[in-house]
Amino acid sequence: MTFAKRTVCPPQPAVLVTGASSGIGKDCVRAFVAKGWHVFPVVRRPADVDTLRALCPSAACLTPLLGSVTDEASMEEVVKKLTQCLAQGAAQGGAALRLQAVVASAGMGAFAPLELSSLELWREVFEVNVFAVASMSRLLLPLLRDAATSPGPAPRIIVVGSAAGRLPAAIGKQLCL
Ligand SMILES: NC(=O)c1ccc[n+]([C@@H]2O[C@H](COP(=O)([O-])OP(=O)(O)OC[C@H]3O[C@@H](n4cnc5c(N)ncnc54)[C@H](OP(=O)(O)O)[C@@H]3O)[C@@H](O)[C@H]2O)c1
Repeated sequence: MTFAKRTVCPPQPAVLVTGASSGIGKDCVRAFVAKGWHVFPVVRRPADVDTLRALCPSAACLTPLLGSVTDEASMEEVVKKLTQCLAQGAAQGGAALRLQAVVASAGMGAFAPLELSSLELWREVFEVNVFAVASMSRLLLPLLRDAATSPGPAPRIIVVGSAAGRLPAAIGKQLCL
């Protein structure tokens, strides 16, 4: 008796990228799509969804999600949709997706001497650069833990920071986190 050889396709790696509307986040989207990953870019404006779709017309490589990292309810929705997409990929017999990485690129810099900067600005920087990253990581850790139980490299959270955190500039206090 002979048995047909069954090929098992490894899951397609997936990545969620915040701050995907511009700069480093958008470049990460381009780079991951070029590498054949499935990318879940998170943006605040519907117009940015259209721009991102143009980067990859095939729904097989890009699923833009609307949300703001500082709005926890919207990020809960983002994680809900992400969870559904990850589950659907496997359930529909399509390419199974494995959440391999999260890139936290949404962020802001602020440069002003202490005496001339407002506490509101400090709070805004901490909301976006610190608390939003903690909140998003908290929401995504269960999915990353799930991924860690399947074969493949350990999933990662990559936080885009700044060299200013190590090399403080005289007027760059708010960024030195
Ligand atoms: N580029 C550099 O040379 C450099 C150097 C050091 C550190 N960094 C840090 O690296 C990160 C990315 O830099 P970048 O150059 O790519 O910046 P960027 O082009 O200004 O992009 C920032 C991204 O973060 C999003 N964002 C900003 N504030 C937000 C908020 N309150 N809620 C949700 N999203 C918000 C923006 O979304 P919207 O378009 O919706 O505003 C945008 O997608 C930032 O944290 C920056 O401080 C960059």
